[in-house]
Amino acid sequence: MDVLGFYPMWYVPTIGSGLTIALIASIHVMASHTSVGASILLAYLATKAYKENQPQIYNYIKKYLLGLLVFSYVSGSISGPGIWFSATVVNPRGISALIHNFVWVWAAEWIWFVAEVTLVYILFYTLGRIDQRSWLRLAWTFAIGSWATMYIIVGILSFMLSPGHEKWFETGNILDAFYNKNYFPHLLERTSFMFAIAGTVGIAIASLMRKEINEKTYKDIVKTLSYWGIGGTVFGLMFFAWYVSTLPQRSDIILNNVIPIYLKLPIMVIILLVLANFLWTAIRPTAARFWMAYPIYILIFFAGIYPEEKIRETLRKPYVAGEFIWVNQIVSRDVPAKGIKSEVPIINEKGLLTVNPFVPEGLKKITPENEIMAGKAVAVLQCSGCHNVTGSTGLRPFGQKFAGMTDPNAVYNFLVSYMRENHPPYMPKLTGTDQEIKALSAYIAYMISKGGSVSAKIEVPKSSAEAIRR
Ligand code: HEC
Repeated sequence: MDVLGFYPMWYVPTIGSGLTIALIASIHVMASHTSVGASILLAYLATKAYKENQPQIYNYIKKYLLGLLVFSYVSGSISGPGIWFSATVVNPRGISALIHNFVWVWAAEWIWFVAEVTLVYILFYTLGRIDQRSWLRLAWTFAIGSWATMYIIVGILSFMLSPGHEKWFETGNILDAFYNKNYFPHLLERTSFMFAIAGTVGIAIASLMRKEINEKTYKDIVKTLSYWGIGGTVFGLMFFAWYVSTLPQRSDIILNNVIPIYLKLPIMVIILLVLANFLWTAIRPTAARFWMAYPIYILIFFAGIYPEEKIRETLRKPYVAGEFIWVNQIVSRDVPAKGIKSEVPIINEKGLLTVNPFVPEGLKKITPENEIMAGKAVAVLQCSGCHNVTGSTGLRPFGQKFAGMTDPNAVYNFLVSYMRENHPPYMPKLTGTDQEIKALSAYIAYMISKGGSVSAKIEVPKSSAEAIRR
C-alpha cells in the first residue's frame, strides 16, 4: 500500500493548534525584542557613561540588566524552545521542511544565543568589578551577539512566508532561501521596533530610579531612550511599508481582504501611542512616569505584538513553509532541487485517508456506515490547521462558515467548485478522492444539522463494517 510520511495529528478543538503556537510565540517576541533592543541601548549608554564620565549611568544599566535577567531571559529562554516544541507537535512536516533547509543556520543561531545568555550574566556580575574599557567591549559583544540571533531567525521566518523567487526551487541553495526578497525589510522593521519596545520599558525603569541618580544623568538617560524610541518607531513604520511592498500577491490579498480591522487597528494605535510617549519624554524628561510607561509596555504585547504575530501567520497561508508545503502538511508542488515531489496527484488518486499511515484501519475504506466519521477525519486532517471543524466558536469555525448548509449535496457542490476546481488564495486546494469529498460533505452537513457543534472525538470502528453512524 502507498503511504506518505505523515505524522499523528494533534487536534486542539475550538482555539486550534495554530493559536497555541501564536500565544507562546508572542510571549517570546516580547521578551526577545526587549532584550535585543536593550542590549544595543545599554551598550550605547555604557559608551556614553565612559566617554562623558557619568558613572551613575552604570547604576541604571545594572538595574536594567537585572530586569532583563529575571524577566526577559527566563521567559524568553523558556518560550523560545516552546515555539519549536509546540510547532513540532502541531506541524511536524512543516518543521521538518525547515530543518532540512536550515539545520546549520539553526546551529549558528544557537551558538549566538548561548553566547548572549552567558554574556548577560557576565555583564551583570562584572559591572563595576572590572575596568570600564573591558566591560564596554563585553557589552558591545553582547549587543552584536543578541542582534545576530535576530539576524538569523528572521531568515527562517521570511522563508516560511515565501522563498521570494523561483530560483530556490531550482538551486535549493541555503542562501537563496535565507536572503529572500522579504528578508531585509523584515529584519530592519523588527530591528527598529525593538528600540521602541526596549526604550519604553527603559523609561519605566528610569522613572523608578529618579531619586537614586542625579538630575542631569536622569534627564540624559530618558532623553537618549526617547530619541532612540522615536527613531525606532518612525523607521519601523517606513520599513513596515517596505515589508508590505515585498509581500507575495496572495499575502497582499489576505492583508487587504481577509485580516479583520480589529487586528490591524490596535497596532496602528499602539505605535502612535508609543511615539507620543517618546515625544513627550524627549521634550520633558522629568515628566516620565512609571505608571505611564509600564502600562504602555504591557499594551505593546496585547495591541502590538500579539496581533502582529497573528497577522504574519495568516499572511503565510495557505503554506506553512517555502510555498511548497501547505498548513495541512501536504506537499503542494515539486521542489526539483530537493527531490521533493507534489503529493497532490497521489492523494487525489488513492485518498488522504489511505496514504496517511496514522488513519485507523476502520476509516480507510469509506462505507455508508462510517462515512460521517471518515468525513470528520478528512476535516481534521485537511482543514483543522485553520478552522475549528467541530464547533461554532473559536478559530474560523465550520459551524459559522457553513451555516444553514444541511444538505450534503449542496455542501459537495460548493466544495468542488470553491475549493477543488479553484481555490481562494488563502486556502489549500481540496485534495483526496471524490468519495472523500462526499464523506467530508456528509460530515459537514451532519454537524450543521446538529446545531453546528459535535464532539471532537472520532469514533473508530474496528473495521468499516462495524461503524456506527453518529
Ligand atoms: C491554510 C489555512 C486554511 C485551511 C487549511 C483551510 N482554510 Fe478555509 N479559510 C481559511 C481562511 C484564512 C478563510 C477566510 C475567512 C476567515 O479568515 O475567517 C477561510 C474561509 C473558509 C470558508 C468561508 C468562505 C471564505 O472563503 O471566506 C469556508 C467554507 C472554508 N474556509 C472551508 C474550508 C474547508 C472545508 C477546509 C478543508 C478542506 C478549509 N477551509 C481549509 C483558511 C484555511
